[in-house]
Amino acid sequence: MGYDTKTIAQAWSILDQATVRYQGADVGTVAALATGTNAVNYDQIFTRDFFVSGLAFLLAGKHEIVKNFLCATSDLQQTENSKSCFQAPRGLMPASFKVIKKNNKESLVADFGEKAIGRVTPVDSSLWWLLLMRMYLKASGDKAIAAEDKTCSSIKRILDHYLIGHFELIPTLLVPDGAFMIDRRMGMYGHPLDIEVLFDAALRASREILGIDASEDDKKYIECINDRIRYLVDHMRADYWIDPSRLNSIYRYENEQFGDEIANKYNIHVPSIPSWVYQWIPENSGYFLGNIGPGRMDFRFLTMGNLLAVLTSLAEKSQRNKILNLLEVNWEALVGNMPIKLCYPAVEGKEWHMLTGADGKNTAWSYHNGGNWPTLLWLLIAAAVKMNNKRIATRAMEIAAKRLAADDWPEYYDGQFGNLVGKAARKKQVWTAAGFIAAHSIMENPDKINLIIFDDEP
Ligand code: GLC
Repeated sequence: MGYDTKTIAQAWSILDQATVRYQGADVGTVAALATGTNAVNYDQIFTRDFFVSGLAFLLAGKHEIVKNFLCATSDLQQTENSKSCFQAPRGLMPASFKVIKKNNKESLVADFGEKAIGRVTPVDSSLWWLLLMRMYLKASGDKAIAAEDKTCSSIKRILDHYLIGHFELIPTLLVPDGAFMIDRRMGMYGHPLDIEVLFDAALRASREILGIDASEDDKKYIECINDRIRYLVDHMRADYWIDPSRLNSIYRYENEQFGDEIANKYNIHVPSIPSWVYQWIPENSGYFLGNIGPGRMDFRFLTMGNLLAVLTSLAEKSQRNKILNLLEVNWEALVGNMPIKLCYPAVEGKEWHMLTGADGKNTAWSYHNGGNWPTLLWLLIAAAVKMNNKRIATRAMEIAAKRLAADDWPEYYDGQFGNLVGKAARKKQVWTAAGFIAAHSIMENPDKINLIIFDDEP
C-alpha cells in the first residue's frame, strides 16, 4: 500500500524527535513537537500518550525506552498516604512529567493534576502503566523486572488504592470529571466507561504479572483481583450494555423501585432517553453506555471504552460482534473522514453550556465533544484484526493514510464527519504518529495482536 514507506518513515521521525533523554537514556516522548508559542504542557511526557508510543516501540522490538519509562514513572509514584489534601494519594502515577536541569544535574518533575489545566486528576495513568508493563513483559520476556520488589510494590500500591471502597457499594470506580483522555469537563464524572474498561484490563494485567512466581502475599492480592473482576465484568456486561432488546426494556421501565430483584436499579426516567438512540442501534448491534449512575444513563458512545472492551474481552463474544456491526452501520457518523470519533454524538446548545461549562475548546463536533482522534486508530485496527474484520481495518487505514501526513499529524479533527483539522489541534502530535505506526504494524503482522489482547475469563 502507498503509505507503507514514506508515511511510516515520517511517523517514526516524529517519534524519534519527540524522544526525551534522561541521565543518558531514552525515557519517553513529549506529547507534541509543534507546540507553537504556547506549549502549555505538550512538551511533557504524558503517561496515557506514552502508552501509544510504547506500543509502537514494542511492536518494533524497541524495548529499552519502554523499560526506562516504566521505571521512571514507578519512581515518581506516590509511595505514602498523607492526610494532606495537596499530596496525590499513594499508588497514583503522574499525568505527565518532564526533565529539569539545574546546576548540571537532571531530575524529573511530575504533575499529578495539581498544575494541569482544570486541575484534573489522572485516574487513568496507573491503569495505563499496568497495561504497558504487561505488554513490555510479553514483548521482551524480561522476567527479572517482573520479579523485582520495586515492580511488585508499585503494582500493590496501585491495587491498594484502586481496590479499596470509595463510598459506594458497587464494583466500578467512582471518579471525578476529566479523569482520563477526556480531561476536561464533559459530564464524564461518576463511572465513565473508558475508566471502567481500563480498570478491568489493568486488574487482569496485575494478576498476570503478580502470578509470575507468586508469593503468598501476591496470592492474596490475586484473590481480591479475581473477586473484583467477576463482579465488575457481570455489572458491565449487564448494566452498561445496550442493544435493541435492552433499549426496549429500558423504554418500559417503572420508577421508584426498592430492593434486590428490581429492573430499574438506577431509577432511570424514560424521558431522559435521547431521541437519537432509538434510530441508532440496528438489529445485531449494540454497545456499552458511556456512563451510569443514580437517575442517569449517558447514552453517548465512547469509542475508546468500547474498542478496548473488544480487545480485553470485557465484551463477551456476541457483544464484540455487535460493537463492530454498530461501527460499520454507523461508519459515516463514527469514522467519516478520519478514524475515529472519541465520543458520539456532540452535545450542543444549552446542554453544551451546562455540561462543559461553556468550554470554547469543546464546542459541538470539536475536540473531545464529537471530534475525531487519529490516535485511536491503533485501537480500531487492533479490534478489527482481533475480530477478523479486514474490511474495517483496511478501510480505516486508507482513510487515515490519505490525510495524516498531508495535514502534518494533527492531534484531532473537527466537524460532524471529521473533515476539518481541529480548531486548536497541535501538529506533529506524537500519539497520532505512534497510533499510525502501531496500527500499521498490527496490519502487517496480525499475530502481534497477542501483545495487547486478553482471552475470555474462564
Ligand atoms: C489533551 C488531551 C489528553 C492528552 C494531552 C496530551 O489534554 O485531552 O488526553 O493526554 O492533551 O496529548
